Amino acid sequence: MPSTSPIYMDNHATTRTDPRVVEAMLPFFAEHFGNAGSIGHSFGDRAREAVADSTASIARLLSVEPAEIIFTSGATESNNLAIRGVSERNQRRGRHLVSVRSEHRSVLDPLERLALRDFAVTYLEVEQYGSPRAGWLDPERVADALRDDTVLVSVMLANNEIGVIQPIAEIAAVCRHRGVLLHCDATQAVGKIPVDVRALGVDLLSFSGHKIYGPKGIGGLLIRAGSPVVRLTPQITGGGQQGGIRSGTLNVPGIVGLARALELCIEELPTEAPRLAELRNRLFEGLCHQLPEIELCGPAFDLRDQGNQPIRLSGNLDITLGNVDGEALLLEMKQLAVSSGATCSANTPGPSHVLLALGLPEDQARSSLRFGLGRFNTVQEVDSAIEMVVEASSRLGKLGYSGRLDFSQ
Ligand SMILES: Cc1ncc(COP(=O)(O)O)c(C=O)c1O
Repeated sequence: MPSTSPIYMDNHATTRTDPRVVEAMLPFFAEHFGNAGSIGHSFGDRAREAVADSTASIARLLSVEPAEIIFTSGATESNNLAIRGVSERNQRRGRHLVSVRSEHRSVLDPLERLALRDFAVTYLEVEQYGSPRAGWLDPERVADALRDDTVLVSVMLANNEIGVIQPIAEIAAVCRHRGVLLHCDATQAVGKIPVDVRALGVDLLSFSGHKIYGPKGIGGLLIRAGSPVVRLTPQITGGGQQGGIRSGTLNVPGIVGLARALELCIEELPTEAPRLAELRNRLFEGLCHQLPEIELCGPAFDLRDQGNQPIRLSGNLDITLGNVDGEALLLEMKQLAVSSGATCSANTPGPSHVLLALGLPEDQARSSLRFGLGRFNTVQEVDSAIEMVVEASSRLGKLGYSGRLDFSQ
């Protein structure tokens, strides 16, 4: 029997805040509510101490120094600060930027705005649909795109739709060799795969609390210290907090929650990643068994990189459903929370730009469903989700309804 309470499988969009994270945050609302910038009283001291402890913990878990962490409101802001900040500050050296067609909108949009201000942007292609490594970026493409006036490359670590994990360490080596800075949007990777920022060799790295069972409204940008110095123009100015790189009163409960969320993810990663892979495989096999027209988008599950790490996030499944429209199917399955296309770009309806970047025809891209399995999902939920998708597709099929929604109105 299908479950009657709603099932949440949209963990790439956001995650439920873990009750253990909420517990860690609570004292910093009404009890230790001081401003971490207040000097000379115990309220400020307590807040500052909490920020210092949390920063130290995040630094240790991601292999950076505490001074390399800038807190932001989330990955959108981190991506903007990195891309606009570095481009604006280094424009005398060059005005060429390199990124990838399948990046998140919070990377693509700032790039498009810079392009309106006479910056040149090269968007790289990824391995196409049909390849077992669909969505993967060959580091050679980065090497070929670099020019003497390139100041920044921005490549994500894990993709929010198809879960592909990019070879960032190799890309970083290419960039370093040519003296070009590398920014990495690691929003979907931090907490889900091991991320050792020092070993990756990136210059800037974005991440976010609400993707890792932490609170919304908090994130970070890691900015490598040392030589050559990473210079960037602040995008939010004011009280000069965080060395003037990002002004604004620190979000103390958010920072405490972000650190706790990351600690839990890293502690549980060795058991959680294989558990999610098993759930994801069960989901895919169950769906394919009953709906043979289903096709996988993104890289094959069992592919590994040179370091023997999977090249797909274990909790990610993205499929196309033949001639059934993904949006119509979503509306048919009120009790199953999944997504068709990227929820973060819900304001730009139409087929997902990531699937189009893979070379999928528009029709096929519109028939996609994305599952993001996470910490609170169970085997029973997977089995119920399979039934819900199968029943809803058959209902739509009986209506003779391919379910195309008209977005033009
Ligand atoms: C890859 C990626 N980058 C950036 C973001 C934006 O993150 P935030 O919601 O923290 O601004 C998201 C959110 O979906 C994402 O998946």
